[in-house]
Parts: sequence; structure tokens; C-alpha cells
Amino acid sequence: MILLGVNVDHVATLRQARYRDEPNTFGGFVEPDPASMAWLAEDAGADGITMHIREDRRHVQVEDVQRYLERKKTRLNLEVSLSGEMVELALSLKPDSVCLVPENRMEVTTEGGLDVVGNLERAREVVDLFTKRGIPTSMFIDPDPAQLEASAKIGSPWVELHTGSFARAWPFPPKREHELGVLTKGMEIGLSLGLQVNAGHGINYENVEGARKLDRVTEFNIGHSIICRSLRYGLSEAVSNMRQLLNS
Ligand code: PXP
Repeated sequence: MILLGVNVDHVATLRQARYRDEPNTFGGFVEPDPASMAWLAEDAGADGITMHIREDRRHVQVEDVQRYLERKKTRLNLEVSLSGEMVELALSLKPDSVCLVPENRMEVTTEGGLDVVGNLERAREVVDLFTKRGIPTSMFIDPDPAQLEASAKIGSPWVELHTGSFARAWPFPPKREHELGVLTKGMEIGLSLGLQVNAGHGINYENVEGARKLDRVTEFNIGHSIICRSLRYGLSEAVSNMRQLLNS
């Protein structure tokens, strides 16, 4: 069975598009609320929730994570960068697991995997810090043998394979097969190194058909497509409710 981790970052993106300057992150007219959406996702069968607190706080805020944790029903996988400030913050929030991701201020979303090879000592230090607190870490990496080996070498128990190239290749069958092959190899290398292998980024309702062939991946983390689908199927009810309220 492949587990589903639901990433609610884009719920916060939508809120920040309107209420960036409000002192509270939820309540009253400040919506949507990432914590409430996470609880709804759990009720609908999510096996875990992922939130990414970015250095620039462009979507999820610390208060969102704290609020979610008060009533979480599954587990929180918190994504942060390797920076000292973010690692301290993650330690103070006590998530169930941490996924270390690269961060580049100019990117719209996490674009590439973490360069564990190039940041070996810092990554090792951070993994040790979390391990001492009983928090398993995962490295969000491209399915590159060198990155997988480096992740195992520093003692990270999990990796999350970046599926972005596969997702972008999906409309082009020969490229799609190539990227699936790269991911399959990455999964196998990771497993042979004793790593738990998760995967995510860009998985949607179409390409999941291919992604699920990675059948020894423990968990897929999926965000954007699920939030988009909830808009698509929730819009009719939202419009008809407002129509009624205007005229009642
Ligand atoms: N995994 C990681 C490490 C991510 O940073 C993200 C979001 O950027 C995802 C998975 C989910 O990607 P998506 O929103 O495209 O489903």
C-alpha cells in the first residue's frame, strides 16, 4: 500500500494572496485556513500532512503549524531548509518528521532536489540534531545515485525522490518512460542502501497512473493537484450558496 501525504502549502498561498498583512492567520474573514484543510484531508483518508515553512514565509506561517498540531490526527512532515534559523524553528515545533529541502528565494516552488553531496557536513549535522530529538529526517533529492549514497552516508533514514522531471515528461511517452526508469532505479538504489523511499512533486490525477508503478515507495507527498481539484469540485456549491445568500 502506498501512503498519501497531503501538502497544504497552497491553501496558505491562497490566503496570503489576500491576507498577508493581517495579524492573525485564521479566523473570521481570514481564509482559507491550512490547519482546517489539513484536518479535513485527514478525515478523507490522508495518511499524513506536509507543510513547508519557507524562509520568506510566503505561504505557511508558524501559527498554522502550531494550530494544526493542536488537533492533528495523523502526523506532520515539516519541510525546511538547512539554514540555522529554520532548523531551530523545526526543532522547536516538534514535527513527526522533517524533510530537508533546498530553497531559492527566486523560485516559484521547490525546483530541484537538495544537493546533499555539496552540503555533506551541514546535512550530517542537521540529521544528527533531529535524530537526537527522535525526529526522522528525509532528504528531498533528485533520483541521482550520488545523492542517494550521500543521504545514506550521513545517516538520514528516509529520502524523498523529486518526481518533477517525471511529471513534466508525462505528456511525452518516450520521455515519460525514461524518467520513470530513472525514478525506478533511484528507488531501488535507495532501498538497497536501507533507506525508506518517499516521492513527490508534480504528481497529479493523470500521472499518478505512472507514479504508482514505483510500488515500493512508502509515501507520495501530493499538494498542488489536490488543492486544484478541491477548487474544481467545490466551486459549484460555493457559487450557488452565494447566489442564495444574495437573494434570500
Ligand atoms: N515534496 C516536496 C519536498 C515539496 O516541496 C512539494 C511541494 O513543493 C511536494 C512534495 C508536493 O508537490 P506538489 O505540490 O507539486 O504536489
